[in-house]
Amino acid sequence: MTKKNKTLGEFIIENQAEFQYSSGELSKLINAIRLAAKVVNHEVNKAGLIDILGAAGDTNVQGESQQKLDVLANEKFIQALKNREIVCGIASEEEEDFISINSQDHRHQNKYVVLIDPLDGSSNIDVNVSVGTIFSIYRRVTPIGTPVTLEDFLQPGVNQVAAGYIIYGTSTMLVYTTGHGVNGFTLNPAIGTFYLSHPNMTFPQTGKIYSINEGNYIHFPQGVKDYIKYCQMEEGDRPYTSRYIGSLVSDFHRNMIKGGIYIYPKSSLNSDGKLRLLYECNPMALLAEQAGGKASDGYGRILEIEPTELHQRVPFFCGSLKMVEKAEEFMARYA
Ligand code: AHG
Ligand code: MN
Ligand code: MN
Ligand code: MN
Repeated sequence: MTKKNKTLGEFIIENQAEFQYSSGELSKLINAIRLAAKVVNHEVNKAGLIDILGAAGDTNVQGESQQKLDVLANEKFIQALKNREIVCGIASEEEEDFISINSQDHRHQNKYVVLIDPLDGSSNIDVNVSVGTIFSIYRRVTPIGTPVTLEDFLQPGVNQVAAGYIIYGTSTMLVYTTGHGVNGFTLNPAIGTFYLSHPNMTFPQTGKIYSINEGNYIHFPQGVKDYIKYCQMEEGDRPYTSRYIGSLVSDFHRNMIKGGIYIYPKSSLNSDGKLRLLYECNPMALLAEQAGGKASDGYGRILEIEPTELHQRVPFFCGSLKMVEKAEEFMARYA
């Protein structure tokens, strides 16, 4: 039996008044993302049937080997946003520089910039494990009518007007916030419509799951090593369960539903960790806070970091409030 759920389209219209600047532009933008999500979902679902698995042959600005689906998802998202002339600029994990959007009849007239991780969890593509897409939306800071500049993208996460992710999992979901809580929508693939299936999503205050790539243990800072040992200790509700998919979106989604902490720390090999501040950590941090959770670099709030580079990396501790606080306690011992 199906529940009489609201569609995402209905939800966007009903909640438009909530948007701080309700000219309808942000609603249109969320709509464009909804469309892009369906297109990428269609491609991800076909992977394996057509020749879109495996490496594309190029290396992106991160030094990672691009997968064909990284490239495809990047193209589809940029295309959907460009065609609708709904944003003035886009930055992506897969593009070295930001893209300025302009056209003859639309001279830099849009207010918003979008930053995306078109396909998160690339290493899971070939083995049919959940992947995702992450997006972050800001109001530009430069005047409307002029081309966007780097300044429009290098804003602290607290300035985000909306953020969200799409998870291509056992079902496809779009989860987003405009600063008024977090709502999750599940795609009914038969009719191509997202329905509000998870209203007001919240992180349990604490949980029993810790998610970290423990293979890198030897390279972790002492505070993280000690926290891992704490998670494994037999005491109270511990030992915790270890769960790590290797796709931030999926690990975050599970932890938000069940209660848990996700950590990608700095290491002796990589002083800033791996995850990118602008299109991975900031959007997830806004979602976490909006869902009553917490996001930190181990010492302070992710959302308050002043970015200096488009592809900058940052250590990431995110999830249930009490668990992130505890991890910060361990980090502080060696600060
Ligand atoms: P992406 O696929 O967008 O490059 O992101 C990969 C990220 C993130 O999704 C995941 O949590 C992390 O890399 C996994 O890294 P490790 O394989 O080093 O654990
Ligand atoms: Mn990548
Ligand atoms: Mn990613
Ligand atoms: Mn990616």
